[in-house]
Amino acid sequence: MNVDELLRRVPREAFVPDVIWVRRDDGSAVPLRRADDPDRWLALVRSDDSIITQVDDGATERGVWPTSSASAPHIVATMLEALDVEPGMKVLEIGTGTGYNAALLAELVGPQNVTSVEIDPGLAEQARAALARAGCHVQVVTGDGTHGHAANAPYDRVIATAAACRLPYAWVRQTRPGGRILAPWGPTFHPDDPLAVLTVGEDGTAEGRFACPAWFMPLRDQRMPQDVRHRTRERWEEMGEPAVSRFGLTVTATTQHIWLDRPDNHIPPTLPRSTA
Ligand SMILES: C[S@@+](CC[C@H](N)C(=O)[O-])C[C@H]1O[C@@H](n2cnc3c(N)ncnc32)[C@H](O)[C@@H]1O
Repeated sequence: MNVDELLRRVPREAFVPDVIWVRRDDGSAVPLRRADDPDRWLALVRSDDSIITQVDDGATERGVWPTSSASAPHIVATMLEALDVEPGMKVLEIGTGTGYNAALLAELVGPQNVTSVEIDPGLAEQARAALARAGCHVQVVTGDGTHGHAANAPYDRVIATAAACRLPYAWVRQTRPGGRILAPWGPTFHPDDPLAVLTVGEDGTAEGRFACPAWFMPLRDQRMPQDVRHRTRERWEEMGEPAVSRFGLTVTATTQHIWLDRPDNHIPPTLPRSTA
């Protein structure tokens, strides 16, 4: 199925909650309630931008850090294309958020083949309700997605919609050989949070290159201080600003390495100052 056509067919407004968050000039975000300005709410939800749906893990009046969102439709489309799914494939999504991407996945592979894990119980419940209203019966699991969801493994595809700084090995273990893992990456080697596209081997390793900038909020348990991004940018500029696609990632049960051009040319990650 054509992904652009799919995005036109499944309306994002069926999944975005009535309260969304909009940025102010000072960088903070304030809630916009659908009932207060339905036209503005709908225009934002129908735009090609990401929509903040939670800040600071659940602040209610004013917040700084987005902690859940409906991802920008063009990124959603890019990731679904890169996922390269076929009907009947089993897919694990990490980060259910609104449930929108889970609904799109369900259209592509069948709802019974989609498992989606969300760490925030309130968000998981909202997504379950939205998916049920849409008649889309995917399994939404409340839990820490860094453990994957072994009960439904093996998967043909794993798609994370929150950024990792270290790939949870459970995702590799729960993917069948030849399967694919998509994971947006935190700013540990490139400042634009690129998307890792990995293939799982027969030997229990996963390897692949980075495809494009993806810009996702981090997995809740892998948040990095802001200075990491600044230091990564400085280092990347000193390296001559290599394109995202020159970098790759190799993951084994015990090690993982970011590399440039060749798997043996390791690039050490930028770490928080406390652990550097
Ligand atoms: C960008 S949003 C996901 C967007 C979502 N796929 C959609 O279609 O609306 C990222 C989500 O990942 C969730 N998340 C963060 N860390 C997680 C973890 N360790 N396990 C599962 N979900 C996590 C956040 O709570 C947030 O809802």
